[in-house]
Amino acid sequence: MNAPAERRRSLHGEWTSRLGFILALAGSAVGLGNIWRFPYLAGENGGGAFVLVYLVCVFAIGLPIMMSEVLIGRRGRRNPVRTMALLGEEESGTRAWGLVGLLGVFTGFLILSFYSVIGGWTVAYIVEAASGAFVSAGSEQVSQVFSDIVSRPLVAGTWHTVFMILTIGVVVLGVEQGLERAVRVLVPALVALLLVLLGYSMTTGRFLDGLVFLFEPRFEDLTGASVLAALGQAFFSLSVGMGAVMTYGAYLKDEESIPRSTVAVVLSDTSIALLSALVIFPIAFAHGLDPAAGPGLAFQSLPLAFGQMPGGVVVATLFFLLLSFAAWTSAISILEPAVAFVMETWNWTRPKAAIVVGAIIWAFGFATVMSFGPWSDIQFWRGTFFDNIDHLSNNIFLPIGGLVIVIFAGWVMARNSTADELDPQAGWGYRLWRFSARYVAPIAVTAMLLSYGFGLF
Ligand code: PHE
Repeated sequence: MNAPAERRRSLHGEWTSRLGFILALAGSAVGLGNIWRFPYLAGENGGGAFVLVYLVCVFAIGLPIMMSEVLIGRRGRRNPVRTMALLGEEESGTRAWGLVGLLGVFTGFLILSFYSVIGGWTVAYIVEAASGAFVSAGSEQVSQVFSDIVSRPLVAGTWHTVFMILTIGVVVLGVEQGLERAVRVLVPALVALLLVLLGYSMTTGRFLDGLVFLFEPRFEDLTGASVLAALGQAFFSLSVGMGAVMTYGAYLKDEESIPRSTVAVVLSDTSIALLSALVIFPIAFAHGLDPAAGPGLAFQSLPLAFGQMPGGVVVATLFFLLLSFAAWTSAISILEPAVAFVMETWNWTRPKAAIVVGAIIWAFGFATVMSFGPWSDIQFWRGTFFDNIDHLSNNIFLPIGGLVIVIFAGWVMARNSTADELDPQAGWGYRLWRFSARYVAPIAVTAMLLSYGFGLF
């Protein structure tokens, strides 16, 4: 038996209830990944076949990894680096497992550096929407608004700075208080607005085309790169593979059910991604936009809908406000692991850790700012700086991190330890998790990384 003699206590506070935890985790999962990244990746990778692989990755790989992260986090109750080292020592006599925590902290660095830039775009769009820039606008006008923001480093850089300050601000205050209360209102409101937009996209006359594009599996479009992109997107959207979920798990009360909370989060995250794509594609088709337009897709199609509908200024402003909030609650969860790590390792205060770490990431974010502007011609390996940071962090580092975590939970941790956290009765749900954690997830991720990863194959 490897169970700790007594249960550890959280160092940074606890979620007040199970709902609080679910909302915080949903706040982390639901973000730009669902509304901005998922639709354009599905568009670039041929639609239905990509979505199919994505769904398999989410439920067969992402969910068991999310459960593993939460259970490890709650058992260790420290930042991901120390938690992995601590449990590694308990379960297998070596602290080397802490290295995967370190990879996670580094991956969070990379992800937040571009996430904050895109988050900045959404904040800029609140202002554009409120000032009526999209009223009766055609697709050219909307594209102009988009490129005026993203291709000018001073403009994009300013909004990136604003977004980063907001993120650092909440992390300075500590996550439980503000965060838990905010997501309780924001996530439902975002879903309500998406449903309003769905109503609009049904009136475009191209709804069926959108539906077919999204769900008809055209396997001839499925390349190795798309399979890897689907895997990376599953990790990115569920926030797994870098210790963010582990960090939130460290603040979860002992008596709360991990399987139930994580299933709820995965289902909401997936529904919101599919819903967003169902809103965006019909609008794009109706206005002659290319569904494979890339990172600009959501920013160029949604405003067209807002511009046409009655009360569009209010709806648009509200929508980008909510999208900014969704991005904000995710960004916070990307920064928190690194901050918890620095605080616990060097005994820094929370404000000092959040500001210093945040500032370094902010500075690095200018590589992404520039790659949508003056550096857009600098292309190597996967494309621009942004493309490379995005590919490396989401398609390589998150899967590697998730792989090591799930192997740890499935093979290194004693059955008693994981059952203790997930389901003391070790019922069929537990057995299903363990089967996936030991076989399905490790084999599938390894196979995908080896066959399509690293750009070498
Ligand atoms: N899941 C978030 C989104 O979809 C992004 C994220 C990635 C958050 C990794 C935390 C960790 O927008």
